[in-house]
Amino acid sequence: MKMVMAVIRHERLQEVQDVLDECGVSGVTVTEVKGCGAQRGYTEKYRGTAVHISLRPRLKIEAVMRAEIVKTVVDKMAAAARTGEVGDGKIFVLDIEDAVRIRTGEHGAETVQHAERAMWGH
Ligand SMILES: Nc1ncnc2c1ncn2[C@@H]1O[C@H](COP(=O)(O)OP(=O)(O)OP(=O)(O)O)[C@@H](O)[C@H]1O
Ligand SMILES: [Mg+2]
Repeated sequence: MKMVMAVIRHERLQEVQDVLDECGVSGVTVTEVKGCGAQRGYTEKYRGTAVHISLRPRLKIEAVMRAEIVKTVVDKMAAAARTGEVGDGKIFVLDIEDAVRIRTGEHGAETVQHAERAMWGH
């Protein structure tokens, strides 16, 4: 299994969730975060003075999935999250050793896969 950890713009959440749903990923964790990339934030005028804002709000997306589908998911997520402007975000891929569905005690890849679309947000 792999975990896709992505940092995206708020306005791209629905499109990214739709990708995960299409690909049969069984769930997602979304966290409000702040971060910066290569531009190290941005500079804003406050009462005539230049103020450096180093961290901007973004969403962190964590989704664990079967290793076989991770390449497809990453490509589709990148397309869904892209505006073409700086600050579109990043996608990281991590190895996952195991997963447990607490209710049933099942382990492994069956716990992170859905047979049918759940139509999140629709
Ligand atoms: N190396 C990194 N490690 C952890 N988080 C990162 C890293 N790079 C970017 N991020 C996260 O992704 C968010 C968006 O990054 P961003 O898209 O600005 O990356 P970038 O490399 O500067 O690309 P671009 O030049 O297109 O802006 C950041 O606010 C931060 O939360
Ligand atoms: Mg940047």
